Amino acid sequence: MRRPPARAALPIPDPSAAEHSARLAERIHVAIAQAGGRLAFDHYMAMALYEPGLGYYSAGQPRFGSRGDFTTAPLTSALFSRTLAQQVAQILAALEGGVVLELGAGTGRMAADLLIELERLGHLPERYLILEVSAALRQEQAQTIANSIPGLQERVQWLDRLPETPIRGIILANEVIDALPVKRFQVSQDGLQEQMVAHGENARLTWALAPAGPELSAAVASIEAELEVRLPPGYVSEWCPRLAPWVASLAETVAAGVALFIDYGYPRSEYYHRERCMGTLLCHYRNRAHDDPLALPGLQDITAFVDFTHAARAGVEAGLSVLGFTTQAHFLIGAGLPALLETEVAYDREQAVRLTQQAKTLLFPEQMGECYKVLALGRGIPTPLSGFSWIDLRDRLDRPQGAITTAK
Ligand SMILES: C[S@@+](CC[C@H](N)C(=O)[O-])C[C@H]1O[C@@H](n2cnc3c(N)ncnc32)[C@H](O)[C@@H]1O
Repeated sequence: MRRPPARAALPIPDPSAAEHSARLAERIHVAIAQAGGRLAFDHYMAMALYEPGLGYYSAGQPRFGSRGDFTTAPLTSALFSRTLAQQVAQILAALEGGVVLELGAGTGRMAADLLIELERLGHLPERYLILEVSAALRQEQAQTIANSIPGLQERVQWLDRLPETPIRGIILANEVIDALPVKRFQVSQDGLQEQMVAHGENARLTWALAPAGPELSAAVASIEAELEVRLPPGYVSEWCPRLAPWVASLAETVAAGVALFIDYGYPRSEYYHRERCMGTLLCHYRNRAHDDPLALPGLQDITAFVDFTHAARAGVEAGLSVLGFTTQAHFLIGAGLPALLETEVAYDREQAVRLTQQAKTLLFPEQMGECYKVLALGRGIPTPLSGFSWIDLRDRLDRPQGAITTAK
């Protein structure tokens, strides 16, 4: 689970981890010098997470779970993936078969638990494809699949890029959009500034400001116009330049089916709320959440909350329709978590206590229930999706302007 930022000091990395981080920092200093002394934050974030051999996701082993850097819903409870499987089964039934493509599969836990449940439901996908950028995580996923579902192993395939032939089926991305590099801006009396990364003292990295370029200026102007606000001087936030092209590439990949994105975030009017004036960046190192992305490059995860209006609009621009938007709690309730829980806890008291506790973590608003949202984009699906049958909040995506939910 992602926690709010804390002020406590971060744990000190061991010497080999510190050396690893120093090597990445050196490379980042070279990139800063090559960029003329200031590197845009999205370039920095891309290097910190994905620099070949050194980035958090491309080197070594990002650490998941209670003894790692952070925990995600599939690791909190199999109830999450098993409930998601009910939704996947409904879509596969509507499509009369199809494939599942999971983006950023982490430890492989969600893939394994989903496939177990889909087999039980009699709705196994033809293939379960995984697109994963981290070689270390690919290995861990293969291990999880081999240990947990040896009989289904052959259905699972890893891809290096999105399939060239569009698929019929479902794309799943749990906590992946938050890892896309973002730009950081700051409103000032002299106009919009972009927060950049520069050389600091003693080989450290520090912040610097530069006038925002045309792409970022246009994005912020359009957000202000749409929300009918003037963001006040001092206001800091993020904008993700890669989100729309990324969603468009996924739209091209879906001939018929649904892309389900699960992540922490808000509709645009809440994301760029005047009171959220310090931005949404969230970093994780050994289960400590904090808001300093320049610390420990390569050793910590760096994320930003998702502007779900941006994601939905990108899908619509690319020809998909918004099939639903709601909180994780409402999605899991709509997709059938209560019935699943009831069956599981019926006979075993110890199991009942454990699973009820896990369900609370997934559902309670002060835990993962409210902050995490689910967005479904798709085409060619005739039936309403069960996950949005409880409460569908899609009208919140386009306030205050008007409908963005239908494909052009
Ligand atoms: C926060 S982890 C979430 C892992 C998993 N989905 C879960 O919920 O436990 C982010 C995952 O996305 C992967 N990732 C990051 N950027 C990606 C991209 N552009 N395409 C595919 N996977 C990506 C990471 O390697 C990692 O597996």
